[in-house]
Amino acid sequence: MKEKIRQLLDEVKSYSPADADQLEQFRIRFMARKGLVGELFDKFKEVAAADRKEMGLLINQLKIAVQEKLDYHKTVFDQTGDVTDETIDLTKPANKVDLGTRHPLSVVRSEMIRIFSRLGFTVKEGPEIEDDWHNFSALNFPPEHPARDMQDTFFIAKNPDIALRTHTSSVQVRVMETTKPPIRAIFPGRVYRNEAISARAHCFFHQIEGLYIDHDVSFADLKQTLLYFACEMFSTETQIRLRPSYFPFTEPSAEMDISCNLCGGKGCGFCKYTGWVEILGCGMVDPNVLENCGIDSKEYTGFAFGIGIERITNLRFQVKDLRMFSENDLRFLKQFEGAF
Ligand code: PHE
Repeated sequence: MKEKIRQLLDEVKSYSPADADQLEQFRIRFMARKGLVGELFDKFKEVAAADRKEMGLLINQLKIAVQEKLDYHKTVFDQTGDVTDETIDLTKPANKVDLGTRHPLSVVRSEMIRIFSRLGFTVKEGPEIEDDWHNFSALNFPPEHPARDMQDTFFIAKNPDIALRTHTSSVQVRVMETTKPPIRAIFPGRVYRNEAISARAHCFFHQIEGLYIDHDVSFADLKQTLLYFACEMFSTETQIRLRPSYFPFTEPSAEMDISCNLCGGKGCGFCKYTGWVEILGCGMVDPNVLENCGIDSKEYTGFAFGIGIERITNLRFQVKDLRMFSENDLRFLKQFEGAF
């Protein structure tokens, strides 16, 4: 009996129907109520206990192989139409072409870009594989500085000067090194950190960095820009709150919260009953950083901010688990078909 199943398995694997009728014959032969697979399952009842495990496995393998053949050829025939059919009906509606959907992170990133471009910010990009200078040193993180610990990333053992960037702030340096102020630009992109993957943390995520350098740029300009962003992104009722913070490359530095848009600031599970959610880090560009990049800090001032795109997307679409963004599960992605 084992030999017979193996033979059938070979036959199924090399089987290829010429048209949908043949495929139907194949289905009946194997899968109909009195078909070969059913027959084998009937005989299985009489198999000696010692042989059962192996035999069961073989029969299941056969069943799966048949089903795979059926599914595969059915999709092919559905998509191409049964071309062996002599009478081709030219009036038949065309087969539906499934359109892809935009990824929720792309939907939100585009919207953020649109908002900042209304304020005159242009878009630039930088490399994900960075060197120490652009990711750390030029931004006032000297080697051995404890602030580097918060942004552990992936290095190459052979050449520790090369790493995956931990933030889009590296693009600030690249742009300042190559552009004469005024600079008003945003830099979207993927960043990496050495984190254990969980519902709330991942080893890669996305940011949009903003940089504005000109004569007399002040903290008030920063605040107004971010308030405009929050109101456009969520609603005109949205409030912002800046908390003093520390980043080596900005002084003063702040983290910005917005009033929780899920509960309107009353307090809920999402904002941990505080009414506020943190969405970004920001500050005035440290004069040292300007000088590192060849910009005269006596003549120019500027502000910078870095926004997490995942965080904004969660607020927008209430995605509870960060991992869903990179699992490619169509049941998740299809939910954003209508999102722009
Ligand atoms: N780069 C910082 C981070 O990843 C955010 C930031 C950007 C802070 C710009 C200040 C200015 O956490």
